Amino acid sequence: MVGVAGGIAAYKAAHLVRNFKEHGDDVRVVPTEAALNFVGAATFEALSGNPVSTTVFDAVDEVQHVNVGQHADAVVIAPATADVIARIAAGRADDLLTATVLVATCPVIVAPAMHTEMWFNAATQDNVATLRRRGITVIEPAHGRLTGKDTGPGRLPEAEQIAEVVRTRLSNVEIPYDWSGLKVVISAGGTQEDLDPVRFIGNRSSGRQGYALAEIAAQRGARVTLVAGNTDELHTPSGAEVINIVSTQDLQTEMEKHARDADIVIMAAAVSDYRPASVATSKMKKGTNDDALSTLHMTENPDILKGLVAAREAGEIPAETTIVGFAAETGDENKTPLDLAQAKFERKGCDVLMANDVSDGKVFGHTDNEGWILTKELAPRTVKRGSKQVVAAQILQVVNEIRHNNRG
Ligand code: CTP
Repeated sequence: MVGVAGGIAAYKAAHLVRNFKEHGDDVRVVPTEAALNFVGAATFEALSGNPVSTTVFDAVDEVQHVNVGQHADAVVIAPATADVIARIAAGRADDLLTATVLVATCPVIVAPAMHTEMWFNAATQDNVATLRRRGITVIEPAHGRLTGKDTGPGRLPEAEQIAEVVRTRLSNVEIPYDWSGLKVVISAGGTQEDLDPVRFIGNRSSGRQGYALAEIAAQRGARVTLVAGNTDELHTPSGAEVINIVSTQDLQTEMEKHARDADIVIMAAAVSDYRPASVATSKMKKGTNDDALSTLHMTENPDILKGLVAAREAGEIPAETTIVGFAAETGDENKTPLDLAQAKFERKGCDVLMANDVSDGKVFGHTDNEGWILTKELAPRTVKRGSKQVVAAQILQVVNEIRHNNRG
């Protein structure tokens, strides 16, 4: 069921309904009366293929709130206004939407959208905490342009982002709200190393896994800094601060700076191991710069992950900081991807390593991932193929476990 409350972002609910329908889901839309001031019932009926009503007094013989509440696999409210959040927190049942929420025993996901002041108001924050305590997932609002000229946290995340949180919640992976007060720094995407003003050396990383980690860490309540290299076109994870970088050296500078007071650092970026020894200031020309264009002279880049582990040993990063690395492996004639990942885990010295088999284009640019999570304490955990958000949730669950183990 998609519940829609009366905010300007109600138009995004139409995209959300379409997203679920395209995935083959049966969708019932339950708007509030106020929501219909923004988007008409006809739009939701046409998109969902189901009738739309706002009150328990429509189609009384069907006892709609009980029917929909009992049969839904998920109840998603997007946008959720401060008013609807308050009514759910108070256990009210004064329209079909809130009555259905009271009946529902399935996962309930609430995506708030409102002005920044309303979001930070103590009443709203208390109500949100109440919902979370009751096991409802409250998606962090995105930061950005609100109605009118204001900007700040309060925007409804994009429909695909909300749908992805719903699917992750339905895949039996936990996303508890237990990291508030933690700072998580994540690198994502590929670095680019300039050859001249028009050419660079890059890689195929889409950035999706790092973005998914940022999204889940933010949903757990952490303060997230995402240091992003070149990526596919991706939505900014709601609640995360994004810092854009281009080269490995830029990435190193930002990671070292932000890791200093981080609780968890994750190197999900695909880093170029080498960079051109010199960068031409003007475009290299065929016929004039043939030597430089046909034979590249490269110099080694710093290993940022190893550097972060060394910085922790040197006391520049807190000893309690958990450091996570990735290993993209194809395997070779003698070694499996897992063998190579295990050797890399020892070499890098990090606390957790997510290893992927990237042979045959299995991972790069895809929305799915699979592999193994290696830690010093636990046996390797196989991660079954799933969306990068589901994989992210599992990685962060392991990070959480080892942090608790280490604290005794
Ligand atoms: N990494 C890094 N700095 C580098 C290279 C890699 O921080 N210069 C990090 C990546 O972000 C990832 C991990 O190290 O978390 C492993 O990256 P990968 O490219 O798989 O390994 P390499 O160190 O390049 O090793 P190899 O060339 O043997 O595969």
